[in-house]
Amino acid sequence: MPKSKRPHPEVSIIVPTYNERENLPLLVQGVGKSLKGVKYELIIVDDNSPDGTGKLADELAKKFKNLKALHREEKKGLAPAVVYALKYARAPTVCVMDADLQHPPEKIPELLAEISGGADIAIASRYVRKGGVKRWGKRRKFISRGAEFLSRLTVPRVQELTDPLSGFFAFKREVVSDAELNPVGFKILLEILVKGTWKKIVEVPYVFGKRVHGKSSLGFREHFNYLRHLLRLMRAGGEASRFLKFCLVGASGVVVNLGLLWILTEVAGLFYLVSAAFSIEISILSNFALNELWTFRDRTRSTKGILKRATKFNLICVGGLVINLVILAALTELLGVYYMISALFGIAAATLWNYVISVMWAWRYAGVG
Ligand code: GDD
Ligand code: MN
Repeated sequence: MPKSKRPHPEVSIIVPTYNERENLPLLVQGVGKSLKGVKYELIIVDDNSPDGTGKLADELAKKFKNLKALHREEKKGLAPAVVYALKYARAPTVCVMDADLQHPPEKIPELLAEISGGADIAIASRYVRKGGVKRWGKRRKFISRGAEFLSRLTVPRVQELTDPLSGFFAFKREVVSDAELNPVGFKILLEILVKGTWKKIVEVPYVFGKRVHGKSSLGFREHFNYLRHLLRLMRAGGEASRFLKFCLVGASGVVVNLGLLWILTEVAGLFYLVSAAFSIEISILSNFALNELWTFRDRTRSTKGILKRATKFNLICVGGLVINLVILAALTELLGVYYMISALFGIAAATLWNYVISVMWAWRYAGVG
């Protein structure tokens, strides 16, 4: 990259584009209008759009000296495009937004003000008071909410944010200076939240507008990419190994349960259903202890609240048992599945239930730091 003699900008605005030829001039104009008096650079990163957006970006870059056009050979996703552009961003503050004007440029100054005010990341949110979305059908709303739930489940650090999947946000460059960003798909903010270094986040309400020209690239493939991305983030953030630990503890509980059932019945001579009641409860308690000391060690720094957690975990396991039995009976009786196979499905569903509710309730994440 040749060294530029121009003074360093205060803000780098990064805009990924794919087939946005009609929107791009409007965006450039909108950003210019809302950032009057601010020294900024606008970085367009285009993935060889068939409609010629890249060429148009080059032309605009000749006309506006603060506009830079970057090109990648093929469509490789919104989030990786932003990571690519970050290498070229020179300002201490970065703002990421879409090209299609669904992210209103008038909001940029508010985001920047929050950063100057001490926030590490400022997110334009659809879901804080006064935020919203225009013209979304039930299906897109449902998918959006489902995606958000999954992010809370797999990325605990986002639990107190209302819109961790927003594509419109600003941040201090230093947040990502040590981070190895490696996202797939659309959710660049999620990647930065997991891998970046930050303390203070502020959310600013905005209304997600309707697309003026062209159409959204968010299709089935992006939903699949999103799940892939979450898996990666689970590994990076330690949540994948947490789930594994939880499963191992569960398996140990089965051993405790069966062992005790045998000893109490055969050695102590109790009626087998009485032994079963004891061994089930003891295995729940041993699972609880192991989860407390191992699986959720990072969330249980003291014994404070341990009785509450134990009660919750007991309730969760009772729920799991009911789910297990209902699935076992339904698959076997209604669908004629072999009962041992039904049992596997029952166990899988109960494990998932136990895990989700444990993570979100019994050992709920208590905040950053
Ligand atoms: N370079 C590049 N490569 N850009 C892309 C690609 C790609 O593969 N895919 C999409 N883009 C660009 C689009 O041109 C647009 O500027 C922006 O990324 C968003 O794409 P849309 O297809 O318009 O996405 P959306 O409106 O459905 O969803 C957006 O808004 C949501 C709410 O803030 C995204 O930003 C979501 O991540 C976000 O949750
Ligand atoms: Mn859009």
